[in-house]
Amino acid sequence: MLRLVERPDPVPGPGEVLVEVAAAGVNRPDVLQRLGSYPPPPGASDLPGLEVAGHVASVGPGVTTLRPGDAVCGLVSGGGYASRCVVPVPQCLPVPAGLDLVAAAAMPETFFTVWTNVFERGGLKAGETALFHGGTSGIGTTAIQLAVARGARALATAGSEEKCQACMALGAVHAINYRTTDFVAAVHAQTAGRGVDLILDIMGGSYVPRNLAALAVDGRLVQIGLLEGEPVASVDLRRILGRRLTLTGSTLRARTVEEKGRIADALRREVWPLVAAGRVKPLVAATFPLAEAAAAHRLMESSAHVGKIVLIP
Ligand SMILES: NC(=O)c1ccc[n+]([C@@H]2O[C@H](COP(=O)([O-])OP(=O)(O)OC[C@H]3O[C@@H](n4cnc5c(N)ncnc54)[C@H](OP(=O)(O)O)[C@@H]3O)[C@@H](O)[C@H]2O)c1
Repeated sequence: MLRLVERPDPVPGPGEVLVEVAAAGVNRPDVLQRLGSYPPPPGASDLPGLEVAGHVASVGPGVTTLRPGDAVCGLVSGGGYASRCVVPVPQCLPVPAGLDLVAAAAMPETFFTVWTNVFERGGLKAGETALFHGGTSGIGTTAIQLAVARGARALATAGSEEKCQACMALGAVHAINYRTTDFVAAVHAQTAGRGVDLILDIMGGSYVPRNLAALAVDGRLVQIGLLEGEPVASVDLRRILGRRLTLTGSTLRARTVEEKGRIADALRREVWPLVAAGRVKPLVAATFPLAEAAAAHRLMESSAHVGKIVLIP
C-alpha cells in the first residue's frame, strides 16, 4: 500500500543538491517496487519515485555548478514521491526551454532509459527501422519520438486501436494491435520480409522467440522489462548465429552516478535541443496530488494511460 508519511528533510551530501519538488514522475518500476518485486538498491531512499523536477533548495559540500533557485529535473534511485528530494548533481539536467516543471518531471527516467538502451546499447542509426513494444507506455512514447527525430523508422505495438492511433500520431509509420494481429507477421509485411534492425522489449517470456523471428540480419534485441512475469525464455540459438543477432538488455537504477552522469551529458548534447525545438516532448496523460499516489498507481496498472503520469506534492 501507498500512504502519506512525514519524514525529516533529506540532507544533500557532497556532490548533491536538495530539490524542492514541484512534480514527480510515476513509472512502472514504482508499481513493481510497491508490489515487492523491485526493491530499492542499497543506499537508496525507501520512498518510491525515480524522477523529479523543481527548484534547488540547497546544495551539498563542493557543489559549484548549481545554485539555490535553479530549476532542474533529475533522475534518482528513490525518494521522488516527496516534497523534498536529494539528487546527485551529475543526474540533474536543466528544464528544457518551453517546458513547465510538470512536463520536465516526466522526462528523466524514460529519456535516460531510451537513450542508453536504444541508441548506445542498441546502436539505432538513421535509416534503420525499430520496433517498440508498449508504444503508448512512458518508455514507448519517448522511444518512438526520439527514433523518428533521429531519422529512424518506428513501428510499435499497443493493446487497442486508439493506442495504435496514438503511436502513429507520435510518428510511428505503423502500429500493430497485438490483441488482433501477430506482430511478427506484421513486421515482415512492413519491412518487405527483411525484419527490423532493433527491438526494445518490455515483455520478455514468450516475446523473446517472436522478437528474434522479427529481427533483420544484424538485428539487436534490447530487453528492458519483463512484464509478462516470466524471466526464463527459450531461444533457438541457430537464429542468433545464422542472422548475426545481438541479444542484450540493462537496468538503469543500479548504475553508478558516474554512468548516469555520462548518459545525462549525452542527453544534454543530443536530445535537449530536440526538445527545445519542439520535435520531441513528454506526453503527460494525467496528474495527481502526491497524497493520491495510490490512484496514480491504479491508473498505471489499468494501462488506460497514454504517456506519463505525474504527482504534484
Ligand atoms: N530497464 C530499465 O532501465 C527500465 C527503466 C524504466 C522502465 N523499464 C520498464 O519499461 C516498461 C515500461 O515502463 P513504463 O513506466 O513506460 O510503463 P507504463 O507507462 O505503465 O506502460 C506499460 C505498458 O505496457 C503495456 N503492457 C502490455 N502487456 C502488459 C502487461 N501484461 N502488464 C502491464 N502492461 C502491459 C501496456 O500497454 P497496452 O495497453 O498496449 O498493453 C502498458 O501501457 C516496464 O517493464 C518497466 O519496468 C525499464
